[in-house]
Amino acid sequence: MRAGEHQIIVIGAGGHARPVVETLLLTGHRIAGLVDDDTSRAPVLGHAIIGGLDQLPRLRAAGIDGAAIAIGHNATRLALGDRLRGLGYTLPILAHPTAVISPHASIAEGAQILARAVVGPEARIGRLCLINTGAIIDHECTVDEGAHIAPGAILCGQVRIGARSLVGAGSTTIAGRHIGPDATIAAGAAVTTDVAAGARVGGVPARGL
Ligand SMILES: CC(C)(COP(=O)(O)OP(=O)(O)OC[C@H]1O[C@@H](n2cnc3c(N)ncnc32)[C@H](O)[C@@H]1OP(=O)(O)O)[C@@H](O)C(=O)NCCC(=O)NCCS
Repeated sequence: MRAGEHQIIVIGAGGHARPVVETLLLTGHRIAGLVDDDTSRAPVLGHAIIGGLDQLPRLRAAGIDGAAIAIGHNATRLALGDRLRGLGYTLPILAHPTAVISPHASIAEGAQILARAVVGPEARIGRLCLINTGAIIDHECTVDEGAHIAPGAILCGQVRIGARSLVGAGSTTIAGRHIGPDATIAAGAAVTTDVAAGARVGGVPARGL
């Protein structure tokens, strides 16, 4: 989908909607409005709530063909992605103009790369991943679908992050480590060992919490 030719809706009008809307605006997308089951929420950067999730089929029938999911909860974001795909929406990649993305990286549908994030050569970013403000995903990292790399987190080279995991703000994962799916890395952690699926670790060096 080329920016400017199509209209896009933003799903969710909470905090994360701010950088999502701003990134869409800076990359020339036309925002039709936001969709949120709490229709009393305030407009986001001048864009109003135009209905709840029950309006998704009607909006698609009205010709809106793109959706950006502004929901931080990883499993919820993935489930909504499936629902939107089933309704015929496309899920464009969002990349803030200040993000540095290697031409040798691969980025899957619906992934969001926010301001000043870096994605290195041969890194692979899965569908609906959230690479938040200032995060660094270095060379040959793999971030599986729906994972969230929070602001300022650093993945050194060849790290693998499992699906739906949260890598907390300002944490560092040293090269080559594998973090299983559905894991949580606490803010500020230094991850020096592999982390099991579903585990929650934090501290320097990171240990189970
Ligand atoms: C790790 C985390 C998930 C724990 O949250 P929680 O379930 O609410 O847990 P609590 O705050 O009750 O803390 C539980 C224990 O973990 C410790 N802990 C919490 N956060 C920690 C951190 N970042 N580093 C080290 N220890 C931490 C607490 O001190 C507490 O220890 P205690 O049992 O000895 O008192 C949360 O603190 C965190 O770091 N989340 C990541 C946030 C983030 O980066 N979000 C991105 C948003 S864009």
